Amino acid sequence: MNNNKFHLHCTQCGYDVADFKEWFEYMQKCPKCGCAVVDVQYSKDYSALKDMIFSNGSEPKNLWHYFDFLPLNNRENIISRGEGVIPLEQWGFLEKYAKEKFGLSIKVHAYRNDLNPGTGTFKDVAASVASSVLKENGVKEFCIASTGNIANAYSHYLADAGISIAVFVPNDVLKANEAEVNSYGQKLFKVKGDYAAAKHVAAEYSKKYSILMSGGNVDPMRVEAKKTMVFEWLRQIGEVPNVYVQALSGGTGPIAIEKAYKDLKGLDLVDEMPRFIMVQPSGCAPMTHGWEKAKEDKFPEGWLFDYPIYENPITKVPTLATGKPGTYPIIADLVKRSKGEIIEFNEEYLVDIARAVAFENTVRMGPAAAVAVGGFFKSLNEGIIKEGDNVLVNVGEGVRRAPDFVEEMMYTTESVDSIEECERFDRSKYREGLWNRIDKMFS
Ligand SMILES: Cc1ncc(COP(=O)(O)O)c(C=O)c1O
Ligand SMILES: [Zn+2]
Repeated sequence: MNNNKFHLHCTQCGYDVADFKEWFEYMQKCPKCGCAVVDVQYSKDYSALKDMIFSNGSEPKNLWHYFDFLPLNNRENIISRGEGVIPLEQWGFLEKYAKEKFGLSIKVHAYRNDLNPGTGTFKDVAASVASSVLKENGVKEFCIASTGNIANAYSHYLADAGISIAVFVPNDVLKANEAEVNSYGQKLFKVKGDYAAAKHVAAEYSKKYSILMSGGNVDPMRVEAKKTMVFEWLRQIGEVPNVYVQALSGGTGPIAIEKAYKDLKGLDLVDEMPRFIMVQPSGCAPMTHGWEKAKEDKFPEGWLFDYPIYENPITKVPTLATGKPGTYPIIADLVKRSKGEIIEFNEEYLVDIARAVAFENTVRMGPAAAVAVGGFFKSLNEGIIKEGDNVLVNVGEGVRRAPDFVEEMMYTTESVDSIEECERFDRSKYREGLWNRIDKMFS
């Protein structure tokens, strides 16, 4: 197929990989230097992007609204469930809290990935692009290592594309995640060990059968998909908030935001990248620990390569359990350039966060999303969020695959024998208790 639409530009040696056919032929590495990090560049004039973002009247149906700047040639190959056009909601109750407790006037937006129609997480856009590109290139078998959510999204979308995927997950994967992959008739290999072990076996499977494996956090299919969130923020609120809060595992989010900024360069729509506040769960926070040490030592030479590796991390949020964070040098550099922070949030408090959010606005989040919201509260307490900031919290997932977490959220049940024991109630009486628990987290 003749592809004049885009090419993959090697960030190391500058070689231009012509298309995904060549990219896949060389097992997703630059044929000249072996580098796995490429920038997708498009031949269309980038000013067209501005028109797409601000196209008045036509409501996007999915992320393929940005088709001209996504790495697919033929629209007929699109696999979509309507993902990527989720709302950016203003959460007034968090603004009110910041004002009352800290005297700060800030804006708070939540990016509702729980509303993605595919599998209800922030991985749906990546799976839509990957399944479409794989279909276009005639791929029939694929494999992936995952802590859970990406496995699910790929299982769903690749099934739609008629592609088989072998999924390698660590031992502590959430049962409901495992079940969902199974339910689409995709193969799940549960590897004895942690995510690093699952990655290792997946890589061997890929090699043994010459089956393509998902390229992880720098995979151009994933990065191109996720960059569209920046276009969506611009489309929806006309600007990119100056602070971005996200739960951190491998860090595709910030990598994709930077790519969006490259695409938008010269269009006069954005200036500086947002400050990245990346949040890890306390049970698995190697990037936070590397970052804190570097900060303490005033970022000495080689600091980007000095980070701990945690084998078999024990965490309540297995979705974020990247104990061996190979992308740390990329993420930590990005965070530093953005003047951001990598913090951790005590996972004992995740349920309290999720309860307060569900009470105030009926949005129910999964544990990984609660890590991000918890990080927001911690940032307020530590002065990382400042007067006048416009904060975007990436709510990465809903509760769909975390039934245990939903059960933990219960607090109103009372067992009774008869009407004698049933008193009338006013739900607002719960409010104070819920917020007291949040105040106490940091005292
Ligand atoms: C809900 C949710 N939030 C955040 C993340 C972290 O994503 P990344 O670090 O790749 O940007 C994940 C990854 O699994 C996730 O599922
Ligand atoms: Zn190269």
